[in-house]
Amino acid sequence: MGGSGKTASELKLKAGLGPQYYRIPAHLYQEGEIIDQDLYLHYQGQYILYRPKNLTWKAADRERLLEFNIDHLYIQCDTIAAHHSFLESNLSRILDQPKIARKQKTLVLYETSQAIISDIFEKPNSPDTVRRSVGFVKNSVDFLKDQDNFHQFMRLATSNFSEYTHAIQVSAYAIALAREVGMKSFNELSAIGVGSILHDIGKVKIDKRIIEKPGPLDEDERREMEKHPQYGFEILQKQRTVPETAEQIVLQHHERPSGKGYPYHLGSDMICSAKIVSIADCFDSLTSDRPWEKKRSALEALELMRKDYVDEYEANLLVAFIRVIGIKG
Ligand SMILES: [Fe+2]
Repeated sequence: MGGSGKTASELKLKAGLGPQYYRIPAHLYQEGEIIDQDLYLHYQGQYILYRPKNLTWKAADRERLLEFNIDHLYIQCDTIAAHHSFLESNLSRILDQPKIARKQKTLVLYETSQAIISDIFEKPNSPDTVRRSVGFVKNSVDFLKDQDNFHQFMRLATSNFSEYTHAIQVSAYAIALAREVGMKSFNELSAIGVGSILHDIGKVKIDKRIIEKPGPLDEDERREMEKHPQYGFEILQKQRTVPETAEQIVLQHHERPSGKGYPYHLGSDMICSAKIVSIADCFDSLTSDRPWEKKRSALEALELMRKDYVDEYEANLLVAFIRVIGIKG
């Protein structure tokens, strides 16, 4: 300890470098459970210790929170990544906990997805990082199966295009469409969710100047860009961490039933799951602001897909997708 009499962590905290407070759902813990973190309340601009670590959570704790209408508590974490990691490891508990409001669950799901996808794009060759997307989708498939949850999630969908928000939004749309056309198997839906989250992972191998170019690509750039499905497939093939269907979705998401897609012009040989993801991908791209194009409304996007892209999507899938979006709250 130095002459100031303060510990290193106190000094770091004073300098704004120490642990920060992050929100968690107040009703995360069940009665009788041992609390694994110090829990704080935010009151009049201050963080006050509400329940210390290792205490048992009691019914009275929950009742007090309800009485004061408190739906968030706070934990201390050294980094925002540590907070995301806490939420991710508690995700299934949060989504299953009936006392946590739908809106709050959806926010946690969205925030967690952004953290996972950002890590995947930063470390695409790390099997552990990619494997996290499988765990995340397993938790989200059941949650998004509920139409009210799906609509709540879609209300959060941002129109500002980023690879991170795009990936999770495509995943939610694709799972909803797959269910709409009768896919019920949990494994099948999970594979579609994972394939959707990872569909553009191959873009990490493409020059950022091409990815971020605010205008039409020239011939060479277009040819390079069109390699991203193959690049993504190769990344996943090396790891063997995701279901084979998800790998195929990554490879085929720009194929079209007409045979006009790429990279292999598969036409009707493309797998159904990739047809589903390609519709979700197109819709989310059209309804997002991109550097070279303004977003369209959901109706305009669907109209464009129905009329101008008529060869590109199978009519029955498109009609089913219109049903999914048409009932959006
Ligand atoms: Fe793509």
